[in-house]
Amino acid sequence: MKQYHLQLSEDQVRDIKVVLMPGDPQRVEKIAAFADMNSAQLIARNREYTSCRCKFQGIPLLITSTGIGGPSLAIAVEELARIGIEVFIRVGTTGAIQPHINLGDLIITTGAVRLDGTSSHYAPLEYPAVASYEVITALKQSCDTQNLPYHLGITASSDSFYPGQERYDTYSGYVIKSFQGSLEQWRKLRVLNYEMEAATLFTLAGVFNLKSGAICGAIVNRTQTEKPDDSLLELVETRLGKIGLLAAAKLSS
Ligand code: URA
Repeated sequence: MKQYHLQLSEDQVRDIKVVLMPGDPQRVEKIAAFADMNSAQLIARNREYTSCRCKFQGIPLLITSTGIGGPSLAIAVEELARIGIEVFIRVGTTGAIQPHINLGDLIITTGAVRLDGTSSHYAPLEYPAVASYEVITALKQSCDTQNLPYHLGITASSDSFYPGQERYDTYSGYVIKSFQGSLEQWRKLRVLNYEMEAATLFTLAGVFNLKSGAICGAIVNRTQTEKPDDSLLELVETRLGKIGLLAAAKLSS
């Protein structure tokens, strides 16, 4: 039976354990381009969810986009879990908030601040959003073998790109009081970066007894610049594609 939103069925992924999850549907085929030659196969496309099968080092893998934010990611996790996927790796872009993080660096999230709303539909806020150590280890080892710059630590997952990440270029120009000063607060609490999905993913995976992790490439550093450029995006996508596939293959055995 095809899943409601993903339009994927169990028999399409019966041999697959691990999914790579970019937010952007257009990134699905870009990641698959780093897999074994001619192995990429587009198997479903509906709304923000694009799914592609591929092989890497001979191992079958799934790549499914989640769209932006917790609500659409949670739908993807629910439906992928139902068809037998066991390990979920988010691969995305992020805004760094620590000055020592360079543009293009990768951030492997160990735990996430739950600034989302969706995860509270699954577990109370006291429940921690933590990545699985197996996924953290596989991502770290992959960065080490590829000699790519990375940081390990805590991420803040916000439900909004603008006020929740304390951007004042909202249409109204106003950020509500509870977010004023929040970037500086998270920075002082040693949070590395902002993105919009990790906390929801880790909470659901914890509740469902599944494994999850997240790796994101810094496309801006909020302590320096705010304008990502195309060549940086391409660099980050290449790094994420390679590391994601390597880690996914390690976790498939
Ligand atoms: N994604 C985010 O959520 N924030 C950023 O600053 C960049 C990417």
